[in-house]
Amino acid sequence: MSSSFSAPKGTYDILPPDSATVLAVREAIAAPLRRAGYGYIETPVFEDVNLFSRGVGESTDIVTKEMYTLITKGGDQLALRPEATASVLRAALQANLHRVGNLPVKLWYSGSQYRYERPQAGRYRQFWQVGAEAIGAEDPALDAELIILAVDAYRSLGLSNFRVLLNSLGDKQCRPVYRAALQDFLRGLELDPETLRRAEINPLRVLDDKRPDVQKQLVGAPMLVDFLCEECKAYHEHVRELLTASGIAFEDDPKLVRGLDYYTRTTFEFVHDGLGSQSAVGGGGRYDGLSEMIGGPALPSVGWALGIDRTLLALQAEGVELPTPNASDVFAVPLGEQARRVLFAQVTELRRNGLSADIAYGGKGLKAAMKAADRSGARYALVAGERDLAEGLVQLKDLSTGDQTPVALDVLVATLKEKLQ
Ligand code: HAM
Repeated sequence: MSSSFSAPKGTYDILPPDSATVLAVREAIAAPLRRAGYGYIETPVFEDVNLFSRGVGESTDIVTKEMYTLITKGGDQLALRPEATASVLRAALQANLHRVGNLPVKLWYSGSQYRYERPQAGRYRQFWQVGAEAIGAEDPALDAELIILAVDAYRSLGLSNFRVLLNSLGDKQCRPVYRAALQDFLRGLELDPETLRRAEINPLRVLDDKRPDVQKQLVGAPMLVDFLCEECKAYHEHVRELLTASGIAFEDDPKLVRGLDYYTRTTFEFVHDGLGSQSAVGGGGRYDGLSEMIGGPALPSVGWALGIDRTLLALQAEGVELPTPNASDVFAVPLGEQARRVLFAQVTELRRNGLSADIAYGGKGLKAAMKAADRSGARYALVAGERDLAEGLVQLKDLSTGDQTPVALDVLVATLKEKLQ
């Protein structure tokens, strides 16, 4: 009988052997970040709820509908983090990282996020991101660097069926002018009450409405690109040039609006064409005003987060299998009590010498223990009974060819090290 509990709706367990792929994906995304000078950061999975309502935005779905909030016994109002950017910036400000080091402060993170969304393929209530934030510098090269690092990470995983969508959301000079123009346009449409309400609070989000009848009405809506001020236009052009010079193909997507309110200027999304409706495998952009929104000094910043769950689905969709390390190099099969003691000591010694080794536990007989050795995926089985030990030997069996050779116990570690190199 299995237990009477199962993982909560919208969550799932990550089990071997798939968990090895998860680790490999995180590592593949982290490697280019480390090479570019990003330092690792961890922050709590819960924060003051106001950090997110102020940072991510009072009118976003994430804050109004999807946040897991709680009141502690001490009366603190907390929320499980729905994303990490606000937390990372909060942590950097709290530790004064922007004062002690050179700007930008470059940080990367890996962790779970929580959103009370309607679960479906590729959309979960607990999901994983690896993200990067470059805090405290306004420089188109930084925006380009981050996009290049994400693309290089996807490429290193063997993915090819993804696209980069790029847009600029303007800044505090030009966006309000556009917002007003868009609102004027939306007020003239026949929209349902909820969409009309959204048009008043967060009109840019209406552009993102997926319903075909709404999309039809939006034909001819004013576009932000036509309202960008000279500074924003020049900045965006500079990012585009740097990407082109680095061999990054991107698509200009003037309708790309992100689901978080803190973005300014450069915004981008990475979409994978094998994933159906939840096609965004990652996204990010510049958030020049966020620091001030959460009570800090002006610190123009840019970053992204890549979804690990969806990256795994993308790998599956493209049929890419990542090389994952064998569980063990060596699997020991002791026959009898004395052999169990000797081989247990040998296995410990092998591990201390950097080899991965395991042993049949639970007093298994020869047949069951050999089956366990086969299942383990090990290259070699180490078989020994009383007679072998009396001669100071163990039998080394190559599990792929079936060849078996006796090896003296005192040279076993050295012999295996050489064979496995
Ligand atoms: P986001 O677009 O909300 O951005 O999330 C980034 C990625 O996380 C998405 O592209 C997707 O792959 C994954 N993701 C989001 N929600 C779910 C879900 N419910 N289930 C599975 N995967 C999901 C952010 O979170 C920003 N903090 C990114 C950022 C960093 N912007 C600047 N710096």
